[in-house]
Amino acid sequence: MYGSGSFAKRSSKTNNNYLRILPGMIACLMIGYFLGSSTTDLNSTVDKTNDWFEQKNHLAREIQWKLFRDLVAKAIRNQPFQKRSSGYCEQKNWKTWEKINCRSNTGATMLLIPHLQQLMDLLRNEIFAKQIEGDIVECGVWQGGASIAMGLTRNYWQENQRTLWLFDSFAGHPEYSSAKDADMNGFRGSESNYLAVSLEIVQANVAAFGVGDNAEYVKGYFGNTMPIQRGNIESIAVLRLDADSFTSTTTILENLYDKVAIGGLVIIDDYYDYKSCREAVDDFRAKRGITEEIHNPIGRKTRPHWIKEVSGELHR
Ligand SMILES: C[S@@+](CC[C@H](N)C(=O)[O-])C[C@H]1O[C@@H](n2cnc3c(N)ncnc32)[C@H](O)[C@@H]1O
Repeated sequence: MYGSGSFAKRSSKTNNNYLRILPGMIACLMIGYFLGSSTTDLNSTVDKTNDWFEQKNHLAREIQWKLFRDLVAKAIRNQPFQKRSSGYCEQKNWKTWEKINCRSNTGATMLLIPHLQQLMDLLRNEIFAKQIEGDIVECGVWQGGASIAMGLTRNYWQENQRTLWLFDSFAGHPEYSSAKDADMNGFRGSESNYLAVSLEIVQANVAAFGVGDNAEYVKGYFGNTMPIQRGNIESIAVLRLDADSFTSTTTILENLYDKVAIGGLVIIDDYYDYKSCREAVDDFRAKRGITEEIHNPIGRKTRPHWIKEVSGELHR
């Protein structure tokens, strides 16, 4: 009896204790719940705000880049640079675009504005964003416009450690050494002084756009200069060919293709314009077993390119 009575007393006391602390426990739980939920809300607000800023910053950067790119393209294309060489426009039998060239001002480049925009985007997206090692090389510079566009893109993205190489005779095409060279829609570059733009003029054009730093000018015919200069180039991220003829295009590929880094760009300006150039590229690709796709996303509004995926050694 004693035992059970004291147990009954103790258990009712314990129950009372529980009852006494129950409201406190409920209050704690509620405070915890509200605190917890309000912290979660706060965090999610912060996350959302960060996301919003992240998205807007990204958008602002894109807009800034496109404004810069488009201004550069227009400035290069519209700037009245060198006057037409006398004699060029008096020649007979030019095809339509050459007649148009005589009448209009192309600025510092033969590339159209969409070509320049594509070129600048390619450098940003395929080379800088992916951190493909190497220099930027243009073979066939004329007044320097495409090189200037690449140099400005390089500087904008603070990739100035990459050397900008400008290969040209700065005196126009050499005499044609193959019948295939003349196969350029009737255009005979070697007979025209239209393509002869002096080194001094190109340097002045490049300096006018502020990309003269870390630029190397290699003056002379490719067959003479490239076998020597390629030893001074460690790696190429962008190889831009714009030399029209079969022999010039072949000379560039044979001397410089193996320097192109994996992931690097090979841009062939004249691939769809001149049979002479297309044949040189097709022959070289067949000889080396190069199968990377040639991209030309919007037809004549872009210049064709491929991205090197397999090393030069494997192509041999
Ligand atoms: C079509 S233009 C280049 C156009 C230029 N990329 C632009 O932005 O307008 C061709 C250039 O290739 C150069 N060229 C062609 N074959 C050459 C060779 N074998 N050696 C040196 N320069 C050459 C010419 O002197 C000329 O300046």
